[in-house]
This record gives sequence, C-alpha cells and structure tokens, in this order.
Amino acid sequence: MAQPERLHTDDLTGRQFDGYRLLNRISIGGSGAVYRAQHRKYSAPVAMKLMHYDRNKRETAAFRREFVLGKMLSANKFFLHYYDKGSYQNRPYTVMEYFPGKPLGLVWREGEVKAQIENRLSGFWVELAQAVEYLHRHKIVHWDLKPNNFLYDGRLLKLIDFSISEVELKWWQLWLPGERKGTPGYMSSEQIQQKKPATVMDIYGFGAMMFEYFAGRLPFVAEDSNTVLNMTLKTPTPPKLSKFNPRVSNDLEKLVGRMLAKDPKMRPRNMQQIIAALKVMDFYVGEISPQ
Ligand SMILES: Nc1ncnc2c1ncn2[C@@H]1O[C@H](COP(=O)(O)OP(=O)(O)OP(=O)(O)O)[C@@H](O)[C@H]1O
Ligand SMILES: [Mg+2]
Repeated sequence: MAQPERLHTDDLTGRQFDGYRLLNRISIGGSGAVYRAQHRKYSAPVAMKLMHYDRNKRETAAFRREFVLGKMLSANKFFLHYYDKGSYQNRPYTVMEYFPGKPLGLVWREGEVKAQIENRLSGFWVELAQAVEYLHRHKIVHWDLKPNNFLYDGRLLKLIDFSISEVELKWWQLWLPGERKGTPGYMSSEQIQQKKPATVMDIYGFGAMMFEYFAGRLPFVAEDSNTVLNMTLKTPTPPKLSKFNPRVSNDLEKLVGRMLAKDPKMRPRNMQQIIAALKVMDFYVGEISPQ
C-alpha cells in the first residue's frame, strides 16, 4: 500500500483509488489540492478536491460540508455539479464536474477576455451578482468572494469554493468566533472582527471585486495582510473609485461605495438591489454601455 502523503506539495498524479485515476494536479489551495481525474465508468473527466492531510476537526468538517453546500446549489447554472465524496488515506475528497474555465482573476485582465467583458459589462456583472444572490437565497454566506473563486470559460461563469463558507442558520454554523477565515482585501470590518455570519458581508466582498476590476487594485492595499486588515478596520470610508479610474460613472462609483460601506447597514440590503442597479447602469461617463 502507498505511504500516506506528508506534504501538501506531494503530487498524487497517477494514483488510483475508488475507481478514480488522478490525471493531473490543477491547484494547491488553502483547503486542499484539486486534481483532474477520470473514473473508470465515465468518459468525461471530473475534478477531485482532496483535503490537505493536516487539517483539524473543524476544518475537516468544513471540507465535508462543502460537498453538502455544493449539492444544494448545483441546480443553478452558476454552480458546479457535485457527484461523489469519499476518503483516501484518511483525507476526505469531493468529486465534482470538471469545468475547463480559468479563475476570473487570471483572465479578466487579459486583452481578449477583458475586451469581451467590456463589451457586455452589465450582463457580465449581473451574472456574477446572480450567482451570489442564488447562494444567499439558501442562507449561505460565501465568505471568500474574490475573482479567483469564480471560474470563467469566456462564456459560462461558475462560483466555486465553499471551503470556508458559513450559513446564517444558527443551528448549522460550524466555525467558532476566532476561527473564521477570509481573504484580506475582500473581508468586511465585521468579518475581520469575527461577527456572526451575514450575507451582507459578501456584499462587501462583491464590492471589493468590482472596485478591483474598475480601479485595477483593491480598495485597501499594503505590503502585508495585517496592514490591509487594519486599514479596513480603521478607514471610515473607502477610497473613491474615480480616483483610480476617471472614466467610471457617478452611479457606478456610488454603488460600489455603498457596497464597501464600513457600516453594514449602509450597504445595499441584498443582492437583488445590486442586480436591479447593475441592469440599468451606465458604467462609464459619456457612454451608453451595451447591455
Ligand atoms: N471543478 C473544477 N474544475 C476545474 N478546475 C477547478 C475546479 N474546482 C477547482 N478548480 C481549480 O482549483 C482552484 C482551487 O479550487 P478551490 O478554490 O475550490 O480550492 P481551495 O483549496 O479553496 O483553494 P484556494 O485556497 O486557492 O481558494 C480553482 O481556482 C480552480 O483553478
Ligand atoms: Mg478558492
């Protein structure tokens, strides 16, 4: 029998278990490694996320819950299909549809994809917002909204990675205060302060993504993540979008500013409000954006 792996960096390509064969490793992330894999009974390849070996009990529970959350969401076109779960060498794994897209952060600055997005700004941002809205309808707080947790193949968008997600329903919550995670730069003050999960936290994350797209940088930037967290906590109002991109319209600047409001009560209350605003938005001054 193969020895249990000791390092996150150990590449398990070629391994075979439970009918699957790992074809190649796609990524090593925070919670696990993702492989393209093939099941002997099915022709289409799948994606297998295999948890890192050294996760604690709650991280392991969160990893397993990702499968449950994924299943709940998979009827919607913005989410992947989740097929199977199991365990290999005491590490849980989740099997899902393999989606041949790329993380949005990687592609939305590329000339060709950027031009394509710019040609349908409203449609593009409405789709991203609809994905988040669907998640919120299930009382799920993603908690890690960022460009790299959206996959895009130039046509279809998928919102992925519920590895640190939480639910608004108290009885189903998993993380204890103090253990909750997120990505600095996209985390609201309340998320940093470990307040109880609320979908309005994701509205901040979505605002940070919009700011990043139009400004070319996040609202708060510093050398190290602690400084970013401190800036988020201490700065009363986020910087203005037009400071970094003079082309943005007043309406866009206002909407993004409200989403990034420090006080969650000042943010749009839900994703429906944001979708409604994005549908009629002129994104740039003096231009009618194609819808
Ligand atoms: N179903 C899939 N099909 C194709 N690629 C995928 C799929 N799921 C994940 N990936 C790839 O693996 C990367 C990491 O996936 P995911 O975000 O779920 O894992 P993670 O361990 O939480 O990683 P991170 O900490 O980097 O966010 C994605 O950015 C994407 O490139
Ligand atoms: Mg991720």
